[in-house]
Amino acid sequence: MSVIAVVGLQWGDEGKGKICDVLTERADVVARFSGGDNAGHTIVIGDDKIILNLIPSGILREETMSVIGPGMVINPEVLKGEIERLRALGYEVSKETLIISPKAHIITPVSLAFEERLENLLGKNKVGTTMRGIGPTYALKLLRFGLRVEDLFDKTTLVKRLNFLVDAFADGDEKVLDECYDKLTGVDGWIGEFIGDVSILLSNSKNDGENILLEGAQGTMLDIDFGTYPFVTSSNTTVGAISRGLGVPLDFVDTVVGVMKAYTTRVGAGPLPTEEESVGDLLREVGGEYGARTGRPRRCGWLDLLQCEYAVRLNGVDYLTLTKLDILDDFDKIKVCNKYLTNDTEIDTLPPFQSEFFDANPEYIELDGWGEDISEIHSYEDLPHKTRKYIEYLSSSLQVPVSHISNGADRKNTIELVNLWG
Ligand code: IMP
Repeated sequence: MSVIAVVGLQWGDEGKGKICDVLTERADVVARFSGGDNAGHTIVIGDDKIILNLIPSGILREETMSVIGPGMVINPEVLKGEIERLRALGYEVSKETLIISPKAHIITPVSLAFEERLENLLGKNKVGTTMRGIGPTYALKLLRFGLRVEDLFDKTTLVKRLNFLVDAFADGDEKVLDECYDKLTGVDGWIGEFIGDVSILLSNSKNDGENILLEGAQGTMLDIDFGTYPFVTSSNTTVGAISRGLGVPLDFVDTVVGVMKAYTTRVGAGPLPTEEESVGDLLREVGGEYGARTGRPRRCGWLDLLQCEYAVRLNGVDYLTLTKLDILDDFDKIKVCNKYLTNDTEIDTLPPFQSEFFDANPEYIELDGWGEDISEIHSYEDLPHKTRKYIEYLSSSLQVPVSHISNGADRKNTIELVNLWG
């Protein structure tokens, strides 16, 4: 019996979907607590590649309940599409396998139109969002003008709220209002079966001694408070989001797993100290680094230990999962950033001022590559000596043990060093 939280330690796209899928084998409940369909969790099962944007990965296991928590924002059209795609692939999506909080907020065409306007206004300074309406929806929630799932069931509130939103944020545009009605009318008819009290379900599940997996979205450096603001998403992505995103107490989680790619990537604008064109191009091609959600090429560079140390500390990471290690198979030398040079001074933690982080020059240590295909290796002991040296260097630098290594996209390409469910 255990509660495991999985969070991304970099800028998202660390491979959380894959490791969550592996862990769901023994999970009774899998819950998402933040974000929306800006996420794209890719799971490969044999010849099938499934990308989940909203529904937690537990949905791919027969006996597991998936939870969409109150901290999430939901685009009903995207959710419906995802449910239909999963059903077409033979997965059961019913009230026995999916529960949605009535407190989660709804992404409306107002948020989508507003985001487009903001990004256009920002021009070359734009955030480079996924354009899924995430930011405006979270902003409206804080302004207390948001529309929640439960409001879809109250026609008077729905009409009043939509009219106000369009007046206040879309210049009263009739087209946007019509689109709102078009997209949101009738949602109550199909979403109703999934609505339930997420907090009670999770509390009972824990009391019954079940295994619970909490599936983070995005990554630490995209956290609205602790990320590279303003080039971040609009929710908290770190463990701090779990309590308020699910309605569970602060001591709910037993184990925090931090997922870290063997190198660094990010999509969208903002600082990325280890970004390097030549190696970045190679990593992108070998690693297939194109956004699961938007198809955009990801910016790539070497692993940044200072940034990872920051994320380990913020999240209180108990175990590391190292992903995409096989992408480094053909590199003679592998670099890892272990210091920054800012204003002619060497520093070994993330600078407190964002501007210094923008201008930080990475300094690297160089480790030997292993020069062989590791994707078919299934035990830690069988990995090449130099691969293990790389892993041990990261683990000892961050002072966190490694629980899993991912050496390929498929479920079966996973080396388990620690059984986290005990
Ligand atoms: P938003 O979440 O769509 O508002 O986008 C804000 C920033 O977060 C942009 O730089 C996006 O590229 C980035 N982002 C949001 N979700 C993800 C994700 O799941 N993976 C990687 N980057 C993301």
